[in-house]
Amino acid sequence: MTAPLLAIEHVSRHFGALSALNGVSLSVAARERRAVIGPNGAGKTTLFNVITGQLAPSAGAIRFEGRAIVGLAPHAIARRGISRSFQRTNLFPRLAVGENLRLAAAADGRGSWNVLGSVDRLAAPLGRAREVAEAVGLAERLAEPAGRLSYGEQRQLEVGVALATVPRLLLLDEPTAGMSPEETARMTRLLQALPREMTLLIIEHDMDVVFSLADRISVLHHGEVLCEGTPDEVRADARVYEVYLGTGDDR
Ligand SMILES: Nc1ncnc2c1ncn2[C@@H]1O[C@H](COP(=O)(O)OP(=O)(O)O)[C@@H](O)[C@H]1O
Ligand SMILES: [Mg+2]
Repeated sequence: MTAPLLAIEHVSRHFGALSALNGVSLSVAARERRAVIGPNGAGKTTLFNVITGQLAPSAGAIRFEGRAIVGLAPHAIARRGISRSFQRTNLFPRLAVGENLRLAAAADGRGSWNVLGSVDRLAAPLGRAREVAEAVGLAERLAEPAGRLSYGEQRQLEVGVALATVPRLLLLDEPTAGMSPEETARMTRLLQALPREMTLLIIEHDMDVVFSLADRISVLHHGEVLCEGTPDEVRADARVYEVYLGTGDDR
């Protein structure tokens, strides 16, 4: 077995008396598309925050490409090749779509990919911004201030901003939250079309999105990994229904 791209080992994070994460171990292989699901408050966003250095874990280790990343600042972790979108929007609303993308692309000093296909030669930030806009369906909206985009388009742009840094690992926190069914379908197609070289870790509530995208699913509950497996395995797990899929509430 080859070493995982991302290895989370016995990670805990406490807030006072609350254990938001309690001994979480989770490995993501290169090229994998992994979904993290679980009820509200399960610790999903906290897991992203400890991966990207926004929060320090109280205990445990995290390795990316075999190297420890706990203790590094968020920008240093981003430079290693991990990029994220936020559950809440993170755009410059007065700047044009193209500028939002160009700034993100310029913030990254490494090589480039063709986000529509395979690994590519070096591309200038402007060229990469155009390429990413194409990939997220905003090529016609480059000159539009980000704040004037529809809600769904803003979420697309946010994925674009994360893509523009050319990550090895892309973390998406509920990219379809608040979207209409049409916007959700569009976002799903966009994510399906991403190159496999870009490993994906996605928190998502919409089970249609999860089942159409994920190779494997990890179910978080009360800060612990309740179960993990292929979509079919997770669908067949009675415990998952108890805490999540079957309830219809606490979402
Ligand atoms: N910065 C924080 N300070 C205190 N409690 C927090 C903080 N971040 C998250 N929590 C708590 O940790 C638990 C897990 O939160 P979170 O990771 O956001 O869950 P999820 O994303 O699965 O809905 C919740 O009980 C939440 O209130
Ligand atoms: Mg969350």
